Amino acid sequence: MRPFHDGTQGKQASWSSWDDLYREHGGAVWGYDALPFVVDFAELIRSQLPTNARLLDAAAGTGRNLSALLSLPAELVASDGSSHALRAIPAESLARIRRVQADMTELPFDDESFSAIIATDVIETIEQPLNVLRELRRVLRKDGLLLCNVPGADDGVAGHDMTPLADGGFVYSDRFYYHFHSPEEASILLSEAGLRVLEARRRVWMEEAHMGFRDFRHEHVSHVFLAGR
Ligand SMILES: C[S@@+](CC[C@H](N)C(=O)[O-])C[C@H]1O[C@@H](n2cnc3c(N)ncnc32)[C@H](O)[C@@H]1O
Repeated sequence: MRPFHDGTQGKQASWSSWDDLYREHGGAVWGYDALPFVVDFAELIRSQLPTNARLLDAAAGTGRNLSALLSLPAELVASDGSSHALRAIPAESLARIRRVQADMTELPFDDESFSAIIATDVIETIEQPLNVLRELRRVLRKDGLLLCNVPGADDGVAGHDMTPLADGGFVYSDRFYYHFHSPEEASILLSEAGLRVLEARRRVWMEEAHMGFRDFRHEHVSHVFLAGR
């Protein structure tokens, strides 16, 4: 969770910007509607979950995707680095989930402890996505499934208020790190992390403005990956 600074651009961003965002804007920055591809995933895994299944929403934010997962027959864990995000998870979800504040590069879970993991809208915000994907693989069971999305340069928000950095990433709105990956780059990252791509699909969806973060309705384009070990 170290801050970074790109000397050539004079722009700074730091991991704690996310926590500040949630602290400043209190409630659910992203709304409470699950992303469409998470809804599809929940239906896909419903029939495949083993008994004693555990499901991790990694970097859950304020838990918008939990509504799609709550009815699954699994123990649900929502982790995020931001305590303010976890606090904004709706009260009705709290009886069903365990909240864990954790850095995704060092998850406080045993090896092979989850039957399914979702990680949405987060890989592109990570400076070292390979480390995160390796960590997700570590906590995924051998027969488990990981769902994640990776936006490329065709994402509707790419280029908007983004200052380029020397590492190929950007600082969005002077505060948030972003790095867009082509589908090929994302596949390579997954495979270098020891994950097998089972399915990859381009998905497009619209999102309403996010208070304090992105103040206009926007389109997202991502490659959505379903992967196993
Ligand atoms: C764009 S939000 C997406 C939140 C949620 N997955 C969703 O789709 O609504 C990115 C989230 O990743 C979290 N995050 C970013 N880097 C992290 C890290 N290294 N460890 C844990 N959480 C992190 C932020 O706190 C933030 O909640």
